[in-house]
Amino acid sequence: MSTKQFDVVVIGGGPGGYIAAIRAAQLGFNAACIDEWKNDKGGPAPGGTCTNVGCIPSKALLQSSEHFEHANHHFADHGIAADNVRIDIAKMIGRKDTVVKQNNDGILYLFKKNKVTFFHGRGSFVAAKDGLYEVKAGEEVILAKHVILATGSNARQLPGAPFDEENILSNDGALRIPAVPKKLGVIGSGVIGLEMGSVWRRLGAEVTVLEGLPTFLGAVDESVAKEAAKLFKKQGLKIELGVKITEVKTAKDGVTVAYTDAKGAEQSLAVDKLIVSIGRVPNTIGLNPEAVGLKLDERGAIVVDDECKTNLPNVWAVGDVVRGPMLAHKAEEEGVAVAERIAGQHGHVNFNTIPWVIYTSPEIAWVGRTEQQLKADGVAYKAGQFPFLANGRARALGDTQGFVKFLADAKTDEILGVHIIGPFASELISEAVVAMEFKASAEDIARICHAHPSLSEATKEAALAIDKRTLNF
Ligand code: FAD
Ligand code: NAI
Repeated sequence: MSTKQFDVVVIGGGPGGYIAAIRAAQLGFNAACIDEWKNDKGGPAPGGTCTNVGCIPSKALLQSSEHFEHANHHFADHGIAADNVRIDIAKMIGRKDTVVKQNNDGILYLFKKNKVTFFHGRGSFVAAKDGLYEVKAGEEVILAKHVILATGSNARQLPGAPFDEENILSNDGALRIPAVPKKLGVIGSGVIGLEMGSVWRRLGAEVTVLEGLPTFLGAVDESVAKEAAKLFKKQGLKIELGVKITEVKTAKDGVTVAYTDAKGAEQSLAVDKLIVSIGRVPNTIGLNPEAVGLKLDERGAIVVDDECKTNLPNVWAVGDVVRGPMLAHKAEEEGVAVAERIAGQHGHVNFNTIPWVIYTSPEIAWVGRTEQQLKADGVAYKAGQFPFLANGRARALGDTQGFVKFLADAKTDEILGVHIIGPFASELISEAVVAMEFKASAEDIARICHAHPSLSEATKEAALAIDKRTLNF
């Protein structure tokens, strides 16, 4: 049997990899994707961290837990009596697993539709030979002219507290806790800590989040972070900042965390389960980078230039395994851009307009620079803010927390950043991304007709607020 040869072989089938393979196939390349993720039956489960233990399952649980919270606390406001509301955790987890499987199957279907050859198994470099790369794809060895590496990331462990997924949980275990823990500890008040902490708090757990840094959500606009801290506290999420974890001990019935608090006092927290969400590390396990001399940095990330080129000819890398934010949409954009560059096109990713979303309640979303960044960069700016409390649709929804905030250049009025905390911030932020991509001014948004009643009117009003001429506040 002759060795199969491909124009483009992608290693990793997460959002960076599967999208790169599809785009390469669309551009006429003979493309393959190798992914090793297994479902509980040992079958293929493409989609990577995002689909299997990240974006998709976390949003499924956020939705279920939000329904539960609404039924318990907000239905009554609408005149709906819902007594004795109970949650069936097994069913909730089962629904989440079904949503994940629908996405896995969807990707397998897309591979077929686009004629991408899929290999289920580990991909690793064997050798570079005659301008081609020999790559192991599961049990086979195949040849590739171009290789795109999209091997993603893994949860970072706390030294001395390895994940057992029973008591000390990574994102994986945090998404399949079989019963609501009475007390849940979370180390790290980043995106995962807040999202997963919210899920289990809504379901009844007493949640304590221990954060190493002295500031809450340091990368977020200060006024949004302040509002979020206030609202999360009101919801009952306990967040301690400036702690230093000294020891984590597991026993049969739970975990004890010893730490020094911000004032330097020794403290101890006993919990039933502990989620450790202190960031993620790039993953090149099993890739055998040494076989071809692929360069990694001190963090273990694959070294790439602005165009995602590695130190090797025709070897590219995208997504969590390279520099930049660890976000699914960033990985996808890089995957598309690389496939287009291989085709001789000018693939492009604008890092200045990548949106961020934290899917708590209220949601937090932003694009561009924060007020503190503009100050640090010495940029003269104007700020405009509009509260959802003054928005008719938000009142009708019964969800008036938060605001939209615009930051624009003081001279040119170009939008430099938009920061939203409030209902459907994840959807509202798209308008700001489009505006910034087109280098719009705040006045451009202020002059555009927005549907009434809609939450997007708060965006328009925040743009009007830049010139202190809001109409409804
Ligand atoms: P991954 O998705 O990690 O995929 C890598 C794939 O490569 C995996 O399937 C892996 O098995 C496979 N692989 C690795 N090595 C090999 C090998 N040698 N051979 C074969 N296969 C291999 N981002 C967002 O934008 N929005 C969110 O809401 C969001 N929520 C998240 C929630 C959680 C709990 C977590 C953990 C992450 C979340 N993220 C979110 C981040 C997002 O999941 C990642 O940024 C994204 O998955 C990165 O995509 P990727 O393709 O680079 O890597
Ligand atoms: P994170 O980087 O968002 O937050 C980690 C937090 O842990 C930080 O606040 C950090 O200061 C703290 N920390 C680090 N070491 C610590 C220690 N020893 N003790 C106490 N605190 C410590 O990382 P997280 O939450 O693990 O998520 C990983 C990545 O996954 C995110 O950066 C994000 O890119 C992605 N993600 C994105 C989501 C989204 O887009 N909605 C949702 C979830 C994850």
